[in-house]
Amino acid sequence: MKMQILPSLLAADLGRLAEELKRAEASGADAIHIDIMDPTFVPNMSFGPSVVDFCRREAPGFFRNVHLMMNRPDLYLERFAKAGAQSIQIHVEADCDLHTELRRIRELGATNAIVLNPETPVERLEPYLGEIDGALVMTVHPGFGGQKFIADCLPKVAWLRGRKPGLDIMIDGGGDAETIPLAAKAGANQFVAGSYLFRQADMRAAVEGLRAAIGGGCA
Ligand code: DX5
Ligand code: ZN
Repeated sequence: MKMQILPSLLAADLGRLAEELKRAEASGADAIHIDIMDPTFVPNMSFGPSVVDFCRREAPGFFRNVHLMMNRPDLYLERFAKAGAQSIQIHVEADCDLHTELRRIRELGATNAIVLNPETPVERLEPYLGEIDGALVMTVHPGFGGQKFIADCLPKVAWLRGRKPGLDIMIDGGGDAETIPLAAKAGANQFVAGSYLFRQADMRAAVEGLRAAIGGGCA
């Protein structure tokens, strides 16, 4: 399994977005995590498709992972794919037919994943295990960066790893030098870190530190 580190753009200095994006790319991180929020799904708002397109224009070679915190992701999948989303994550709690939308993400040329909120039991993913490229286990309540990591979510990672050994399993929320190794130990191989990475003067050193802590390559 390739271990991957993903800075979350939500924590970037928005006044210097292009520079921040390039700083994340130059850090050696594997992809940029772009958080899209619908205020009927989470108590906040963030970016839209134009920001995904901005990332494609400013850093074309930096893989774009798009996390749709939306009730009706089905209404926007095409727009995000056209804007340059290369992997698209939709919540199991969303109000749409997940089988259909997971298939549609692949048809649009992106990899798919299902996201689980902290209070959602992992067994809810059982019917989709044959149809997903990845799973994202939220380790905070979605809506804001800078929250505390909820370690109680880690057994879900271990359950998923046991059920589907080749699955990409991501954690998102509160990721830092202490919590990411715990998630790796539970079986995750993709790690989002927003506020931890963007607050670093030397993001490259921080990414290298995380890689050293989780063990670099293929298991
Ligand atoms: C939370 C978002 C996360 C967030 C992570 O709603 O989905 O991706 O940006 O930020 P940190 O790493 O600061 O918790
Ligand atoms: Zn996210």
